[in-house]
Amino acid sequence: MFNSAIFKKLEKNDFRTLIGIEIGMRQHRWVPSEMLPSFSKLFSEEVRYRIDRLLGFNLVKKSVIPYDGYRIHFDGYDALAVGALTLRGLSAIGDNIGVGKESVVYEGVYDGEPVILKFHRAGYTSFKQVARQRDTGDRNHWIFIARRAAKREYEALVTLAALSSAVSVPAAIDHNRHLIAMSIAPGSELSKTAVDDPDWFLDEIIEQIRKTYAAGFIHSDLSEYNVFVSPDGVTLIDWPGYVTTTHPQAEFLLERDVKNILSFFNRKYGVTRDCEEVVGYVRV
Ligand SMILES: Nc1ncnc2c1ncn2[C@@H]1O[C@H](COP(=O)(O)OP(=O)(O)OP(=O)(O)O)[C@@H](O)[C@H]1O
Ligand SMILES: [Mg+2]
Repeated sequence: MFNSAIFKKLEKNDFRTLIGIEIGMRQHRWVPSEMLPSFSKLFSEEVRYRIDRLLGFNLVKKSVIPYDGYRIHFDGYDALAVGALTLRGLSAIGDNIGVGKESVVYEGVYDGEPVILKFHRAGYTSFKQVARQRDTGDRNHWIFIARRAAKREYEALVTLAALSSAVSVPAAIDHNRHLIAMSIAPGSELSKTAVDDPDWFLDEIIEQIRKTYAAGFIHSDLSEYNVFVSPDGVTLIDWPGYVTTTHPQAEFLLERDVKNILSFFNRKYGVTRDCEEVVGYVRV
């Protein structure tokens, strides 16, 4: 969980030390302490003082085997990303509204407007296996994986919204490292909402899938959990796993998206649609 009490205590040189560790982690699984002064551009005495603070705040982890080294902790990486967004317009982080396998989501305020803050966590669970196989620099460390996922999602939101036939997605506002700020999708999650005109909503969703496909993309993680519904229409969220229509599994993934949605509408509302027909329509 993001700890704003600790975040508020952080000073410039705490951030520099964290950034020094982050830089070192491109090459080292545990960043040797003697490298930190040059990575963070601080005197070694200052680094020692900062490291003790960061350890106390639980923002970094220390290893003494096979040498004294440091690694950034989840919360430390969160602090760096929040620090960067704070310089550009983020002014508050509010309630946590969701913890998933792949992300932690908060409400926030950016440029005076309410926003969603999504911290990517992808890669964290698979990291332990990777770590066992590797002793040196670790491009597969979760922070790099989570950062790639966030960048990917941010770019998808930008691209899909900019199309002449725009897909209805949250507006991308900002991103840094594994964190994205985006607009709040109107309405509520399809899975948690009783809609009174299921056929209309289903058509709206199919239309979004079609526009996405026409632009060369497939969501590939579509389900009632990643669709928001409001009286004005639908919004598709959660895009880090999108593929392009040239992906070898493109057809399978498109069909799976369509099937997930159709079977939800069938289960919950008794709506029957032919999957092949819908897929055919989407691919026109
Ligand atoms: N732009 C948004 N507007 C409103 N709510 C959002 C938005 N983005 C995310 N959420 C909320 O946070 C939850 C998790 O976000 P998202 O689906 O993007 O991440 P996730 O990695 O799939 O998480 P999970 O592993 O739980 O599925 C969503 O189900 C939704 O309730
Ligand atoms: Mg989701």
